[in-house]
Amino acid sequence: MDFSIRAANLDDCKDIARMITVSRHVCACSRAHLEQDGFSKNPFFHGIIAEVPEQHRTKEGHTKIGYALYFYTYSSWKGRAVYMEDLYVMPEFRGKGIGKALMSKVAQLGLAAGCNQLDFTVLEWNKSSLDFYLSQGCFDVTADLGYHCMRCEGEALQHLAQP
Ligand SMILES: CC(C)(COP(=O)(O)OP(=O)(O)OC[C@H]1O[C@@H](n2cnc3c(N)ncnc32)[C@H](O)[C@@H]1OP(=O)(O)O)[C@@H](O)C(=O)NCCC(=O)NCCS
Repeated sequence: MDFSIRAANLDDCKDIARMITVSRHVCACSRAHLEQDGFSKNPFFHGIIAEVPEQHRTKEGHTKIGYALYFYTYSSWKGRAVYMEDLYVMPEFRGKGIGKALMSKVAQLGLAAGCNQLDFTVLEWNKSSLDFYLSQGCFDVTADLGYHCMRCEGEALQHLAQP
């Protein structure tokens, strides 16, 4: 199937928000958040979109059928790194090479920016995505190196930020 991958722009936020919402029950990230955080002066993330030609649009009329979000980060071990926050392809378009093409584009952009590694997380129950990533040559940092993903949020974050 024909598809193309291109940089996301402000007009894509509506479709990215739609795809984020269908893949999650609760999501605090609205179209307005995406517009502000990804497309204002100092963007917190970048995005790419997978698009199919009109003849392959969904029955609801969508042609934007997948996306990835990413941003740059830094490792004191490895230097520049790119972090992939989301990788998503609508169910009816899976298994056609689109997810691989999106992830490959994030890898290309990361290498072009001088990055040495591509980081991302995957939930333990998401066996199918885990297998997909393993099939792309990625490895499980938690299992292989013992790293755990840590977080501070809500009241704990407010408390931590007290002078
Ligand atoms: C993960 C996801 C992006 C993969 O996209 P996709 O378009 O279906 O994947 P592709 O068709 O590009 O597959 C590329 C390759 O991965 C392999 N692959 C895909 N799914 C696989 C699986 N479950 N197990 C093993 N290999 C898999 C394919 O066989 C293909 O290999 P090949 O290049 O040797 O032929 C898609 O399934 C998805 O959107 N899932 C829901 C969202 C999600 O969970 N995202 C990850 C959050 S961390």
